[in-house]
Amino acid sequence: MMDLGFLGGGQLARMSILAAHRMGLRCLSLDPAADSPSSQVAPAIEGQLADPEAVASLIRQCRRLTLENEFIPADSLRDAFTLAKRDPSDLIPGLETLATIQDKLLQREALAKAGVPSPLASSLDPGRSWPGEPVVLKARFGGYDGKGTRYARTAEEWEANTAYLPAHGWLVESFVPFVRELAVMVYRSPLATGAFPVMETVQTHHVCDLVFPAPSSPPGERAREVAIAAVEAVRGLGLFGVELFEGKDGEILVNEIAPRPHNTGHYTLDWGGVSQFEQHVRLAMGWKPDVPLGGEVCMANLLGQPGAGDVRVATAAAISEPGIHVHWYGKAEAKPGRKMGHLNAVGPDAVRRATEARERFYRAWTS
Ligand SMILES: Nc1ncnc2c1ncn2[C@@H]1O[C@H](COP(=O)(O)OP(=O)(O)OP(=O)(O)O)[C@@H](O)[C@H]1O
Ligand SMILES: [Mg+2]
Repeated sequence: MMDLGFLGGGQLARMSILAAHRMGLRCLSLDPAADSPSSQVAPAIEGQLADPEAVASLIRQCRRLTLENEFIPADSLRDAFTLAKRDPSDLIPGLETLATIQDKLLQREALAKAGVPSPLASSLDPGRSWPGEPVVLKARFGGYDGKGTRYARTAEEWEANTAYLPAHGWLVESFVPFVRELAVMVYRSPLATGAFPVMETVQTHHVCDLVFPAPSSPPGERAREVAIAAVEAVRGLGLFGVELFEGKDGEILVNEIAPRPHNTGHYTLDWGGVSQFEQHVRLAMGWKPDVPLGGEVCMANLLGQPGAGDVRVATAAAISEPGIHVHWYGKAEAKPGRKMGHLNAVGPDAVRRATEARERFYRAWTS
C-alpha cells in the first residue's frame, strides 16, 4: 500500500512527492500523460482523471489521497470512492469543498454567504445584455492561467466576447480596478489553522509572472484575515492558495481559492522555512502543519519560449550568480507560454536578482 496518492501528475504533484519522499513516504500519481512530471520521480498510473475506474485504482492503492488541480468533477470522484469501497474522508481537501471551489459561481456564492468580500457574480444567461459597467466574464469550470477569463469593460467588448461564448457555463462579475494582486497560502486542519506570508503577485497576459513579499500591514494583516475567512467559508481542510485584489483604499477582495499548492507559494521551496509542498503533505497525511517562518525571496516563473534550446545551458546561466535556485518540472514539451519551471532568488534585493536571473535564463535558452 502506498502512503499518498495524487490525482494529477503535473509539477504540483511532483514537488509534493519530492517533499513526501524526504519524510520517507511512498507516493503514486494518476495522470493521462505517459511521461508526466511526477512519473519521473515516483511510480505513476497512466489514465484519465475523469474515468472513475482509473481513479478507483489509484484510491485502492493509497492510504491517503490528494489532488493537484480542482478540475475532476466532485461527483465523479465520489463515484470512484464508492467503486473502490473507500471513505471519501481519506481525501484532502474534502469533496464538498472541492464541489464548491471547482464551480467559480458556487465559490463566489459561498464567499458572499459567509460575508467574505469578493466581486459580485451571477450567471451569464443567454440573451443577457451589457450591464452598463465594466465586468469580467469567466468560465465557471476549468479556467486556468486566464484561459477562461475575458474582460468586458465596454459594450463593444461585451458584444465581441458574448458573440462566441457558449450560452451556458459562464459567469459575469464586476471588474475590480485593483492596485495590486496579493496571494496567501492558507492551511486549515483540526490541529492548526494559519497562513504563510502575504505575497504580491504580478501577472502578465493573465499568467503569474513574479511573486515577492507584499509590504507589511496594512493591507497585509487584513489580507491574511480575509484569506483565512475565505477558506473557512468553503469549509476547506488542507492547503489552499488564495488570490486577492487590493483596492486603492486598501480594501481586500477575494479573487479565487485553489484547494492545493499554488504557483504563488513556490517561493517557500527556498525561503528557509517549511515549504508549501511539505505543508501540503503533512495536511494530506493528517499530520500537524508547521508554523511557516522564512526569509526574503522572489519567485519568477520560467515559461516556454519560441526557439528554446538546451535547458541545461539556461539553468547554468541563471544560477551563475549567488542565491538563485532553479526548479524545472520535466514537462515533455516547451510550448511557448507554458509554465516549464520557476526560479527563486534568495536574500536582499530579491526582485531585481530574480528578474535578472530570468533574463540570463531566457537569453541562454533561446540563443
Ligand atoms: N473581477 C476582476 N477584475 C479585474 N481583473 C480580474 C478579475 N478577475 C480576474 N482578473 C484578472 O485576470 C487574472 C486571471 O483571473 P482568474 O484568477 O480568475 O483566472 P484563472 O485562469 O483561474 O487564473 P490562474 O492564472 O490563477 O490559473 C487575475 O489574476 C486578474 O489579473
Ligand atoms: Mg487566478
